[in-house]
Amino acid sequence: MQLKIVGGDLAQAKTPCLILGVFDKRKLSQPADAIDKATGGAIAALLGKGDLDGGKGWLLAYDLPGIAAERVLLIGLGKRKECDRGKLTKALGGALARLGEMRVDKALLALPDGLDDYASVRAAALKAAETAYRYEATKKPKDDAPVLLAALGIWVDKPKHAAAERAVAHAGAIAEGVALARELGNLPGNHCTPTYLADRAVELAGEHAALTTEVLDEDAMQALGMGALLSVSRGSRQPAKLIVMTYKGGDDSKPVVLVGKGLTFDAGGISIKPAADMDEMKYDMAGGASVFGAVVAAARMGLPLNLIGVVPSSENLPDGDANKPGDVVTSMSGQTIEVLNTDAEGRLILCDALTYVERFEPDVVLDMATLTGACIVALGRHPSGLFTGDDKLAAEIAHAGEASDDRVWRMPLWDDYQQQLDSNFADMANIGGRDAGAVTAACFLSRFTKSYRWAHLDIAGTAWTTGKEKGATGRPVPLLSEFLIHRSGVETDA
Ligand code: BES
Ligand code: MN
Ligand code: ZN
Repeated sequence: MQLKIVGGDLAQAKTPCLILGVFDKRKLSQPADAIDKATGGAIAALLGKGDLDGGKGWLLAYDLPGIAAERVLLIGLGKRKECDRGKLTKALGGALARLGEMRVDKALLALPDGLDDYASVRAAALKAAETAYRYEATKKPKDDAPVLLAALGIWVDKPKHAAAERAVAHAGAIAEGVALARELGNLPGNHCTPTYLADRAVELAGEHAALTTEVLDEDAMQALGMGALLSVSRGSRQPAKLIVMTYKGGDDSKPVVLVGKGLTFDAGGISIKPAADMDEMKYDMAGGASVFGAVVAAARMGLPLNLIGVVPSSENLPDGDANKPGDVVTSMSGQTIEVLNTDAEGRLILCDALTYVERFEPDVVLDMATLTGACIVALGRHPSGLFTGDDKLAAEIAHAGEASDDRVWRMPLWDDYQQQLDSNFADMANIGGRDAGAVTAACFLSRFTKSYRWAHLDIAGTAWTTGKEKGATGRPVPLLSEFLIHRSGVETDA
């Protein structure tokens, strides 16, 4: 999808559809007022009929005099004082869905005054790009399916141009990352295997000059002593891969390292999961997909920083050679682990990846994982769970979440919980009992991250939408992108 900033005389702008905001009690936004004047009061007259009072909903008008747009779509934005980025993107989402059904694939959005800053422009552009994604890899759309948005112009007042240009450029890059993460999450397990992910990572390196990919196979991982990771893949016919993507955009500064759980299908192993909704466990690689997405977004934005994305990838299936409850495995760190539940496999593949990344002398390490159902029980599906002992890093991540509308909520990571992982037969067990399952999972990971600054995001609730609209969300690519933009010191609003 094409995104661009448009300036100049709005009345003269040629577009199949001009989208204008109207506030509660039929108050016009500044651009809507300008169009009202250009049309000799046609907008006010239309609203006077009472079909749209501006609280919510939309109204469509054709062939208005004095303007170049073929149609005008008025969208209700609610009370002017309460109208923020969130209300704008929500109304825009509804409007664009309507346009898709009308088979209109190009539009021009005139942002209301006060919502034309970097953050609002980026959010609106990202929302539009989001509506332009549809999963088609194994299901072709019907002939009468809505058309996808092909191009969106965003009209802003002149002085804001530079920030707005930057906002749409960033939105385009983030949208590409989000769409990639969604596509990988939506692909079925028989298509999206560890080998497939590794091949895609190699392909991506071919598309971006500053990006290189290295893939470690099982022999290489064996040589490194990754006994925890390999114990999981032993139960599957698909060989595990450790995917390492390096983006070099900075000088010799220490890299930000992103690690993502890449479980392409999680049946639970010998501790097998119930049948209901097990299909959804194809998204157990969403953490890995978010690493792909963030790396691509950073490369497309050309951010001035060094970034390494690491994705340990495997399946978790029951098999004659699979992990058995009670098995003890030795991790790359040398610490031994008693596998009390083979369904707690994410931490087994992540712990070796987290030890592996020590070699990069990271500035900071973030890991993303669909790690626990317990995190969904604790927080629902709105925020991702944030776990870190580093208050400054927690604040930085929380801020990135707010600024990108991809929020997190911090959970405790106190030592008090660590004893739940005690084992009589190994340095630790891989589960910590019923209480605080998301916390004990994070505690487990913390034992492998002592040598660098680290935070863990449990995205079990946020990376996927269940129910009729089921599918991957692309989260937390927006958060990660924002975190990287902020870290690299790129100007946004200036
Ligand atoms: N991938 C699952 C966690 C999960 C569950 C993600 C539901 C998304 C939705 C993970 O590998 C898992 O099975 N975790 C277990 C841990 C338990 C055995 C301690 C869980 O959450 O039940
Ligand atoms: Mn599992
Ligand atoms: Zn899992």
